[in-house]
Amino acid sequence: MKLWGGRFESGPSEVFERFGRSLDYDKRLIEADLLGSLAHARGLRSAGVLSDDECQKLLEALESLLEQAKDPAFFDGCVEEDVHTVVIRKLKERVGADLADKIHTGRSRNDQVSLDVRLWLRGQIDQARQRLVQLMRELLALAQRYPEAIIPGYTHTRRAQPVLWPHYVLAYFEMFARDWERLGQARRSVNVMPLGSGALAGSGFPIDREAIARELGFDSITRNSMDGSGDRDFLLDFEHAANLTMLHLSRLAEDWILYTSEEFGWMDLGDGVTSGSSMMPQKRNPDSLELIRGKAGRVFGAYLALLVTLKALPMTYNRDMQEDKEPLFDVVSQLLQSLEMACAVVPTVTLKPDLALRAVEQSWAVATDLADALARQGLPFHQAHQIVGRLVLESIKQGRSAKDWSGAELAAFAPEFKPEMAALLDPREAIKTRVVFGGTAPERVAEALAEAEQRLSQMQS
Ligand code: ARG
Repeated sequence: MKLWGGRFESGPSEVFERFGRSLDYDKRLIEADLLGSLAHARGLRSAGVLSDDECQKLLEALESLLEQAKDPAFFDGCVEEDVHTVVIRKLKERVGADLADKIHTGRSRNDQVSLDVRLWLRGQIDQARQRLVQLMRELLALAQRYPEAIIPGYTHTRRAQPVLWPHYVLAYFEMFARDWERLGQARRSVNVMPLGSGALAGSGFPIDREAIARELGFDSITRNSMDGSGDRDFLLDFEHAANLTMLHLSRLAEDWILYTSEEFGWMDLGDGVTSGSSMMPQKRNPDSLELIRGKAGRVFGAYLALLVTLKALPMTYNRDMQEDKEPLFDVVSQLLQSLEMACAVVPTVTLKPDLALRAVEQSWAVATDLADALARQGLPFHQAHQIVGRLVLESIKQGRSAKDWSGAELAAFAPEFKPEMAALLDPREAIKTRVVFGGTAPERVAEALAEAEQRLSQMQS
């Protein structure tokens, strides 16, 4: 069945039909398509296009299709071009062609498909945000599991300064909190109702677009029918937010792939999220995290595909825009799966606090704290930096680590050192100086944990 044909002398070739068919993937829009048609039918009744009786019959038929569409066999044997066409055919079978043919009055598949995708995507965004909240909850629990553990913080993948474990974990909490917010903004740009735009010039029937928007839970309606038909910014907004979420997940994955490696060695993952090797009996590989890292690349590619598809498209709708769907569906599915996977990885993490501390102690990660102490005595910082740099060099030459230096030895090395500064060579003491808001001092981190807890409870409401 086709939704057009009168103007043609012959039908489409087999290859073109195959080439243009989108049903295999756009069938996931079925529920949205039916909900949209229910609202459109009511709109047509208010506009006087349908009688009460006709409208009632259509609504009942659409409702029953909504019920049947839950069955995966719903699309078995369907040969139609897309999901919209399947619905019309099934409607005809229920209410007869004369009535079913009226449902498309004043509507085009151009505004219909935009409506469907917006409705569908809205629900997916809600799921992604729920999973983000779940992930933040797991991270918070992981942070609190080792509240006093000290780990090396890195720059350039080199041990840089000691930080509290919960401080490090909360850094990811912040990233995911921004993602939650950003996906909320994307939802607002998705949640605008385009029906009534028609093909491009606006519906020729006085349907109450505001009423349809209210019925379907949209925040507002599109303001220009040409924009309504040709716009896919809302997909880019969503995909941008999804990309940043995947980017953050990939950084977390990379960190933990490194930290759980033999080379770092101060963290471990559970058996349930690691896998062995078919050849090397000793292996325990972080495949779950590697897959998250890999999927991030795939999702970025989908974003670029959409941008390139839309670039320089002439106004308004062009069939190119059908190509927005497969990448979009892939972004959604990879995002949801990756979030689910991350939620499952986090509770399996175990920290080896002794090894993490040893990594800090073996590396002069407290050098900055010592330089800060000199600067606090009034020494210009660059000079303090220079003196501590020389101390580190000497220490390395002697094969000693920071904590091997006594206060007396420090003072003997350079008169600027006061013996009590040796206390800062203990990372536990060193972190106490980082009391600035946002710093890793224990009291700041305790506050940040409490605040995170509170913010999380607001995100759920
Ligand atoms: N499958 C099409 C899409 O995804 C639906 C709209 C078709 N519109 C058209 N004018 N051929 O964009």
